[in-house]
Amino acid sequence: MVDSSPFKSVQSSQVILKELMVPSYANFGGKVHGGVLLSLMDKIAYTCAATHAKAYCVTASVDSVDFVNPVEVGELVTLFASVNYVGKSSMEVGIKVISEDFKKDVVKHTNTSYFTMVAVDEETKKPVPVPGLLLETDQELRRFVMGKLRKQLRTAHRKEITQLRKTLDKTRELQEIEGENCRLQEAT
Ligand SMILES: CC(C)(COP(=O)(O)OP(=O)(O)OC[C@H]1O[C@@H](n2cnc3c(N)ncnc32)[C@H](O)[C@@H]1OP(=O)(O)O)[C@@H](O)C(=O)NCCC(=O)NCCS
Repeated sequence: MVDSSPFKSVQSSQVILKELMVPSYANFGGKVHGGVLLSLMDKIAYTCAATHAKAYCVTASVDSVDFVNPVEVGELVTLFASVNYVGKSSMEVGIKVISEDFKKDVVKHTNTSYFTMVAVDEETKKPVPVPGLLLETDQELRRFVMGKLRKQLRTAHRKEITQLRKTLDKTRELQEIEGENCRLQEAT
């Protein structure tokens, strides 16, 4: 059952998640796997979106995730999530990740990313409407406007890729990959 209140504050669904980076999270190089952080980001995005929508949500898309600093075992990772933008059934959740090294007293920005979550009916799996967003600060207003712009860009990008795929042509593809790091070898 979807919450019927028309508008909800950003604050009411904000989430903070802290997790200690244990040795089992490490890759062969001793750093934390990027996938561990992605999984935590997906978890907090769901919690934030479902709290806003009071409904079951799915991850529709994840914007590019650029890890600007590696995370070490023993560090404390903190994720901050907030609903930036709300459409009819979709919500853009902004996630900021930082990691803290207690011994060196250093806090690093790990990454910021945007997850699009869609509220769906649990049985039909069809999108359902979500409450609007009550914008109470200049920052919330700015984030909403930016979220709307990103939604438009994502939609345009998806359309462009679909169109490009339809118009692929072997002769042109061969020209396109000239000078690229690949070699053509016919299957035997
Ligand atoms: C996301 C999903 C519910 C959209 O369903 P749909 O029938 O295409 O829905 P619509 O085209 O009506 O779009 C519904 C909303 O989702 C948004 N949306 C759809 N596909 C999207 C995408 N790829 N990226 C971002 N937003 C998307 C639309 O913009 C729309 O937003 P709005 O209601 O706020 O305007 C459907 O594609 C789905 O269930 N995908 C699988 C999700 C999943 O299983 N995730 C976990 C993977 S393990």
